[in-house]
Amino acid sequence: MLIARTLNELRDHLRALRQTRGMIGLVPTMGALHEGHLSLLAAARGEVVRPAKPGAVAASIFVNPLQFAAGEDLARYPRDEAGDISKLETAGCDLLWMPADADMYSGSDATVIDVGGPALGWEGDARPGHFRGVATVVAKLFGQIRPDIACFGEKDFQQLQVVRRMVADLAFGIRIVGVATLREADGLAMSSRNRFLTAAERAKAPRLHAMLHSAMTQLRSGLNPAGVLAASRMSLTADGFNVDYLALVDSETLQPIDALQSSARLIVAAQLGSVRLLDNITA
Ligand code: PAJ
Repeated sequence: MLIARTLNELRDHLRALRQTRGMIGLVPTMGALHEGHLSLLAAARGEVVRPAKPGAVAASIFVNPLQFAAGEDLARYPRDEAGDISKLETAGCDLLWMPADADMYSGSDATVIDVGGPALGWEGDARPGHFRGVATVVAKLFGQIRPDIACFGEKDFQQLQVVRRMVADLAFGIRIVGVATLREADGLAMSSRNRFLTAAERAKAPRLHAMLHSAMTQLRSGLNPAGVLAASRMSLTADGFNVDYLALVDSETLQPIDALQSSARLIVAAQLGSVRLLDNITA
């Protein structure tokens, strides 16, 4: 695996890869990698391979300060450079981009990207400035790497839609591929933050996904969405979750909808102990 730690190294490696491999797929991450991240790499690999050329898969690791609001967990965000490098090597990653803070933010930047539409509400309300940070850093990574395709997890469903909208609105010409959420055996969505759950919280955490599943089953059976959402919320609260939102939304706009339809997504955010858990499922 090639590793670039400066923009010059990145340019050289990309030039070589483009010539010999063809298309380039990108998986942006903040590190502390788990199987969920690696499943994005496998998906990216499948997207770039062509009969004549194998394509190349790049990952980036950058803990992006701009997407953490004041008082959020930037300082305690897990970092494991050696572990990440060895996981990426094993997963067959071709290029790792590990920018320094100064490569991403010079201190004199005058441009940020503010996405409206799908960035409004939900995580956008709970974490002011979060999607500005995400959109700005992702746009910058796209500018530095100029990938043909990029993979994002459905785990962060609103983020995926925000990136899709930015790429469409600004005509980046990069195909965005959404990848299904990888889960632990008990259903808990894999996340770098799960390590902060206590043993008791970890045992309880899969109830979030179980609730989504059972709520969706009830919705499919024709029960009234408002009633299903209210009852599900109460049962989560009784289980010790502090529910921020539980909503049935349109997948593209993230606007609430009041009837189940094929484009619907059930999204939830709930605090368990010190960890904010996100999950969602399709209609
Ligand atoms: P991070 O939280 O490291 O996630 C990197 C990518 O992995 C995201 O696209 C996320 O949705 C995906 N992912 C996380 N858990 C997953 C799971 N269990 N199954 C499938 N995919 C999963 O998301 C970010 O970083 C940042 O906001 C970033 C896009 C890198 C911009 O800084």
